[in-house]
Order: sequence, then structure tokens, then C-alpha cells
Amino acid sequence: MNKTKSIVVASLMVGMGLTACNSGNVRRNPGKTYAPDMTYSRAYDAYTSNPNFADSQTSRKPVDGTIAIGHELPDHLVEGDTNAYKTFTTAARFDEAQLKEGQRLFNIYCGICHGQNLDGNGPLYNGGNGKFAAAPANFKDGKYLHMPVGQMYAAVKFGKNAMGSYASQVDIKQRWMILAYIKKVQSENGGEAFVFGTAAPAKDSTKAAAPAADTTKKVAAATGAENNKKG
Ligand code: HEC
Repeated sequence: MNKTKSIVVASLMVGMGLTACNSGNVRRNPGKTYAPDMTYSRAYDAYTSNPNFADSQTSRKPVDGTIAIGHELPDHLVEGDTNAYKTFTTAARFDEAQLKEGQRLFNIYCGICHGQNLDGNGPLYNGGNGKFAAAPANFKDGKYLHMPVGQMYAAVKFGKNAMGSYASQVDIKQRWMILAYIKKVQSENGGEAFVFGTAAPAKDSTKAAAPAADTTKKVAAATGAENNKKG
């Protein structure tokens, strides 16, 4: 026992003696790199010069026509083609959260002129006393209640008289969310029935759920599992 103890103590002291040889905290070698191809990238880093391209830039633009995930396809609407405006529409449908997002975007980009309650009297216009002289469209007025959604889309994309284009501020999906929100409010104020919402859960599904609840009750009763009964 004693012998083993002294061997352990002796080897510890030798070890400490060896590690103590690093004089004055100065390291004279760079140390080992265990995975050099992880430490030193073999690929060209984003901002390093790249001999494979004429402009020597490593960061490339996406290929022409690339559409980012979650974004809409291009609309192909041509400025001035007012006939195309009138029939232009979207197959996209929006749920409650997206309509809320449409409202949020409307309040940011449009409400300042068109008014947060869509009456064409936002703070910038303010009944003609505001900074903006031209009267914005009153979406609750008969003139705009039945306006084809594509024509509204064109106003956002290309602008309309005193109203500038909002194409660079809101992308295609955001434009449709805004317009869906406007159409929803219009449908509640004498416009056509709202068609851009996702279908509400059918009444039948609640009916279908009822027998299922009954079966659970029966099973619970049969197994005597009274505690599992809900409500
Ligand atoms: C700087 C004020 C301003 C802002 C911001 C603004 N608009 Fe307008 N908008 C106007 C004015 C003014 C008109 C009336 C143009 C005319 O008919 O002469 C108009 C007209 C419209 C029309 C009717 C187009 C038509 O064909 O008659 C639509 C639709 C519309 N705006 C949607 C929007 C939407 C959506 C936004 C937000 C993305 C927006 N506007 C932001 C000022 C604005």
C-alpha cells in the first residue's frame, strides 16, 4: 500500500515539475490543430477574393427568376394595361392572422392617407387641412366599394396620380394581404361578399365530433374509468 502511494506521489511531482517548465507564461509553439479543415475553411469565405469569378467576389446573387421561400410568383402586370388590371386577381386565400397582418401593414403604409378606418381621411389629408393636398380614395365610398381588386393592386404597384407606387415597400404577398383586408372591411360596409378568406370550419365537422365524444364516454363507462371522463 505504502509503495503504491509513494509511486503516485512521485509521478505527480514529476508531472508538476514538467508542466512548471513553461517559463514566464510565454508559449513558444502555436499548439496543435486537431481538425485543420474545420479551423481553416477549405471553401471560400463570403468576403474573400475568389479566382473563379471575373469580378473575384465570392458572394453571388441568386440566379435570375429565383423566388424566395414563402414569396409569391411575379405578377406580370404591365403598367397602363387597364383592361388587364380589371380582371387581375389572386388565388391566394388568407386566414385571420394574415388578415390581421394586412391590417397592420395597411395602418403603416396606407392609413396615413387613406385613414385607419378606410374613410379616405387619414392624418396627412385631414379633411383638406393636412399636408397632403390630394383627397385619398375613401374605400367606404360607392366609387371604391366595388372596385376590382386588380385595379386596386395596380394602384399599389404603379401608383395612381398623386399616390406614389408602393411596390418597393410591400412585396406581392403583402400587397394581397393589405387588399384582402380592405376587401374584408368593404364587404362589411356594403361591398361584395368577402372571398379572400380561408373557409371557416364547416358546421358538419362539429356534428361529426359529437358521436366521437359519445364513444369515449361509452368506452370510459365500460372500462369503469370514470376519472377519464371529461366535463
Ligand atoms: C401619400 C398618401 C397615400 C398613401 C400613403 C397611399 N395612398 Fe392610395 N391614394 C392616394 C390618393 C391621393 C389617391 C387618389 C388618386 C386619384 O384617384 O387621383 C389614392 C388612391 C388609391 C386607390 C384607388 C385607385 C384607383 O384606381 O382609383 C387605391 C386602391 C389605393 N389608393 C390604395 C392604397 C394602398 C393599398 C396604400 C398602401 C399600400 C395606399 N393607397 C397608400 C394617396 C395615398
